[in-house]
Amino acid sequence: MPHNAQTKVSDSPLTRNIHGVWGSRWTFILAATGSAVGLGNIWKFPYITGENGGGAFVLVYLFCIALIGIPVMVAEVLLGRRGRQSPVNAMRYVTQEAGLSRFWVGIGSMGVLSGLCILAFYSVVAGWILDYVFALGRGEFQGADSATVGKYFSDLRANTSLVIMWHSAFILLTAAVVAAGVTKGLGMVAKVLMPLLFLMLLMMLVYGAIHGDFMRALKFMFEPDFSKVFFESMQLQGDGKWLECPAQASNCELRFTTGPTVVALGHAFFTLSLGMGSIMAYGAYMPADAKIGSTVITVGILDTLVALIAGLAIFSIVFASNIEPGSGPGLLFVSLPVAFGSMSGGLVFGAIFFTLVAIAAWSSAVSLIEPGVAWLVETGRFNRVTANMLLGLLAWCGGVASIYSSEVFNFFDFITSQVMLPLGGLLIALFVGWKMRPSIIEQEMDAEGHLLLDIWLFVLRYVSPVLVAVVFITALWKTLSA
Ligand code: TRP
Repeated sequence: MPHNAQTKVSDSPLTRNIHGVWGSRWTFILAATGSAVGLGNIWKFPYITGENGGGAFVLVYLFCIALIGIPVMVAEVLLGRRGRQSPVNAMRYVTQEAGLSRFWVGIGSMGVLSGLCILAFYSVVAGWILDYVFALGRGEFQGADSATVGKYFSDLRANTSLVIMWHSAFILLTAAVVAAGVTKGLGMVAKVLMPLLFLMLLMMLVYGAIHGDFMRALKFMFEPDFSKVFFESMQLQGDGKWLECPAQASNCELRFTTGPTVVALGHAFFTLSLGMGSIMAYGAYMPADAKIGSTVITVGILDTLVALIAGLAIFSIVFASNIEPGSGPGLLFVSLPVAFGSMSGGLVFGAIFFTLVAIAAWSSAVSLIEPGVAWLVETGRFNRVTANMLLGLLAWCGGVASIYSSEVFNFFDFITSQVMLPLGGLLIALFVGWKMRPSIIEQEMDAEGHLLLDIWLFVLRYVSPVLVAVVFITALWKTLSA
């Protein structure tokens, strides 16, 4: 349903946008929240919180969301709405408008690549989730202990053809929604699935509070132990001979590890879908008269709430079952089913919970290929269906590589969250903060009120880029001097 309202900004006409526009500001909020809320909130946030010691990590993460994530998100939406095209062409437009070199267009092209790299491990995890919906549904984990569920999980990962099947199903679901287009495909997903997700998550929290150890979960997540937060060197963890490891050996995984601060920073970008163009692409479909600031703050708060509620629900159940909070990526896949299987009515709730996670992952994955699809369509050589087939195939191949090799899986995770996204976010902050003409920024933000605009611009110029740079330089310096 293309939206024909007059744009306020005369040189930013909707006619430049061939992909459609959200019906209203609320559709944008729902779609952006759909992108933001995903495996990052429900799978990744709880396990990295567990691995990094709880409260202090959560505090650093919340600071990163407020001082870096939200300001960069405003900048990213602004760029998209100004450019009104795919991130690649939106960046080309704003770069020309500012009379700058083509270097900055790289923010858009790097984003298309980052999206594929994320989807290459994301869809594998989403595939495991799909398997668990059915496993719980058929009563697989009734009364099972952690060894039994752990064996189920490692058997699943070793069953490459089964995982490839689930991964393929997830890529197909994603491509189908994106092929249907913005207002029909993405808008529908947002409107129907997001409210459902919130409802189910609240049910899980109530369930965790009644049947789990809610007080201990609260303490773990909100009582900071500052000895746990520090800058740590980036290192390759393994037994040092990972090149000799057989692909499926579970005890010599190559993992890239960094200190809690770098992990928290990278996750702030990941969970808000920042630094690769998802939010820029969605911003391009935003009505011209919608306020960016309050919209973004709403999305940031919703995303943070979902992560915190998911964490509380998961840790309540985990602590009640005396399971290690720091058990890593398996936290969701090994510990939780044990807890579900040992509680009355747990399996039904477990199946509902994993369905919820699958839906959240789906609406996020959609935003991972939308920038690339929009860009291919704009070249004039593809339509939405063929563009999805091409990009879906590329992501599918990356996923198959991640299924066969956990090194590839970890590499995609590490290089995107902890390198490409912060780099993309840093460049976005520098571009909008320092390179765009103030008059253009004011035009796009004229609905916001001066105080808010001034605070945002100050943080975007002097706080966000400096914090990202300091975290990186410190990590790099520690690595080199280690
Ligand atoms: N934010 C999503 C999650 O937390 C994942 C995601 C979607 C994403 N689009 C993105 C991450 C763009 C980084 C960049 O699951």
